[in-house]
Amino acid sequence: MSNTPDANAAFWMPFTNTRAFRAQPRMLSAARDMHYFTPEGRAVLDGVAGLWCVNAGHCRSSIVDAIQRQAAEADFLPSFQVGHPLAFELAERLAELMPRPLDRIFFTNSGSESVDTALKIALAYHRARGDGGRTRLIGRERGYHGVGFGGVSVGGIGANRRPYGPLLPGVDHLRSTHDPEHPFVRGQPRFGQDRAEDLERLIALHGADTVAAVIVEPLAGSTGVLVPPLGYLERLREICTRHGVLLIFDEVITAFGRLGAPTAAARFGVTPDLICMAKGLTNAAAPMGAVAVRRDIHDTIVEAAAPGIELFHGYTYSAHPLACAAGLATLDLYAREDLFGRAKALEPIWEEAVHGLRRARHVIDIRNLGLVAGIELASRDGAPGARAMDVFRRAFDAGVLIRITGDIVALSPPLIISEDQIGELCGQLAAALEVTD
Ligand SMILES: Cc1ncc(COP(=O)(O)O)c(C=O)c1O
Repeated sequence: MSNTPDANAAFWMPFTNTRAFRAQPRMLSAARDMHYFTPEGRAVLDGVAGLWCVNAGHCRSSIVDAIQRQAAEADFLPSFQVGHPLAFELAERLAELMPRPLDRIFFTNSGSESVDTALKIALAYHRARGDGGRTRLIGRERGYHGVGFGGVSVGGIGANRRPYGPLLPGVDHLRSTHDPEHPFVRGQPRFGQDRAEDLERLIALHGADTVAAVIVEPLAGSTGVLVPPLGYLERLREICTRHGVLLIFDEVITAFGRLGAPTAAARFGVTPDLICMAKGLTNAAAPMGAVAVRRDIHDTIVEAAAPGIELFHGYTYSAHPLACAAGLATLDLYAREDLFGRAKALEPIWEEAVHGLRRARHVIDIRNLGLVAGIELASRDGAPGARAMDVFRRAFDAGVLIRITGDIVALSPPLIISEDQIGELCGQLAAALEVTD
């Protein structure tokens, strides 16, 4: 197999400009700690922890060993009507990291599956309580909740929705919290809390007795790092509690240290009813997601069911043994190296470094929290996204992987990044901006 795919390659790449890629392929074939390596052996600094998922850095030996050992011990063990010890152990360990009382864990294989699972559990819960009229789901504009039909329906990205028809019925959306009138805010904005009142309005519009759940990313990542205004999540929590609506945090990006805490719920001091996770759960070394559920929600569904299976839901690979082994080794590694604490300690240095790009060419806004930053560029007339794509290509050629969404550069490095590497990442980005029209 050649290192460069030919123009007729069979691989249909996800979320990729295929024609541009084939004209100018960028290939990676190895990874270790903070770097990827191209097939030619060129090192590329990972500015985005893969896809916001390799929080402990690449190819960490304790995780690699755990997966190798498990593959030799038992390649697959089912979880329908039989169990295996690692699944129970990982669920316990995860429950310990979650805010109380979210201590029931349902395993999935991805963030998208976690979202669809959480939405289904919310619907099943209301039905189990005899409140089955609560079927409406509320998401948010610019929300990204993966690519399943549920997640796309509650998601708020037009390009992800438009090709796929009517999606789920009975879905509505809050406005996004983004406020371009106040650029260059460090950390949580002090304004914009009132956007939470959208929820009150939608509940009044549709009737509380029709609304099952609200799902938000506590910090919206994929649409360009939108940091929640101070008080906003607290207000959503109050409104949900008052109206008996479940609050789901999609923490696929924010869980496992990204914001310097085990979860965004812990960072912001706001406890939702369900938390969706994936990515950093296994340090991305094996696909796995999970949903943490309030214990009484679980108990209600289980106790209301007729004898037999209580929740008709699950995946062949729920609690896959290789993923469980990777998950346990990952949680050990996070604890051993105190990586969540490290992210917290690095946050002021990170903030200073990314806001140092304020005067770089084309930059119109910078947002940050934890070890995340969004650097928004002015778009070229009539060509949204083109400028950021050029910056992405230049940064890659200079040895740095960044992520772009529209004309926003998103940075979210592994939590093991050094201060020098933060400087290198921002320096290379500034250099790429400087030579981009
Ligand atoms: C907040 C959020 N939810 C869900 C997903 C989907 O996860 P996956 O790609 O693992 O299905 C993502 C992926 O980036 C995400 O950021």
